[in-house]
Amino acid sequence: MAVAKEASINLKGRDFVTLHDFTADEIYYLLETAESLKAKQKAGKPHPVLKGKTLGMIFTKSSTRTRVSFEVAMYQLGGSSLFLSERDIQLGRGETIADTARVLSRYLDGIMIRTYSNDDVLELAEYADIPVINGLTDLLHPCQVLADLLTIKEYKGSLSGLKLVYVGDGNNMAHSLMFGGAKMGMHVVIASPAGYQPSEQIVQQASEDALRYGGKIEICSDPLEAVKGADVLYTDVWASMGQEAEHAQRMRDFHGYQVNQEMVDLAHRDVIVMHCLPAHRGEEISAEVIDGPHSVVFDEAENRLHAQKAILALVM
Ligand code: CP
Ligand code: NVA
Repeated sequence: MAVAKEASINLKGRDFVTLHDFTADEIYYLLETAESLKAKQKAGKPHPVLKGKTLGMIFTKSSTRTRVSFEVAMYQLGGSSLFLSERDIQLGRGETIADTARVLSRYLDGIMIRTYSNDDVLELAEYADIPVINGLTDLLHPCQVLADLLTIKEYKGSLSGLKLVYVGDGNNMAHSLMFGGAKMGMHVVIASPAGYQPSEQIVQQASEDALRYGGKIEICSDPLEAVKGADVLYTDVWASMGQEAEHAQRMRDFHGYQVNQEMVDLAHRDVIVMHCLPAHRGEEISAEVIDGPHSVVFDEAENRLHAQKAILALVM
């Protein structure tokens, strides 16, 4: 991408709620910033670009990667972070999202939130005067996908034209992969059983993006057909946070959708296998595959840190 274009991109003050809100150039700029910050960190060069700034992190769901990577990201950028569990703040006792947003805006420089309803994140962003970052909702997981795009770019050299096949639940990961992949001109195929296919509205929006950026979105229900020639094979848990009661039913409904060696053998011989983690070996992915030579899952996990540092450094 031309340097002149980058120079005109300014993301200060922007919310990071969905990749659908960002242009392809803006996403490339985030990825290039992530690569540069990653190189600095590896070389031991300090980069305290957020010195004196504070990020509040609201969690109403569990997390290992998101919590730790955002906290470490702020520390490495010279700022600090506050972990705000729903159990501890007044939001959990009925204070409104709008009031919480207005109050936190008086203390903080940014808010990261992980919660159930994506509408709650949109409401927080509407009332906050500071950038709001979506750390996962039932609908979307854009920070994960930015880290995934960084990982794919590292392994494959570029993104445009690659075939990414997601096998499993048409959930938050499937949605954000469609949004991110479409903007990057990728061919994204989602293979999910009937009843578990992604949101039609998101498929529609991502398809329009794909058309514009030279990519393609396909929804199907035959994973063995879908996976043929895949450059990237992606999966996620069959029962997401909040769906624990449906676990047994979902195990039956997702029979035949496990990412295993048979599937890997049908993909491109250089396929990379991805999973946002946490994983359930023996359910959505076999131990042989997630712990095998095609798996890049721990690079993805590491890249959460670098990708989020780019988001924080550019929006805060
Ligand atoms: N992938 C991901 O978001 O992990 P956590 O739930 O541990 O944050
Ligand atoms: N789909 C999963 C992703 C976890 C990072 C969930 O929402 O639980």
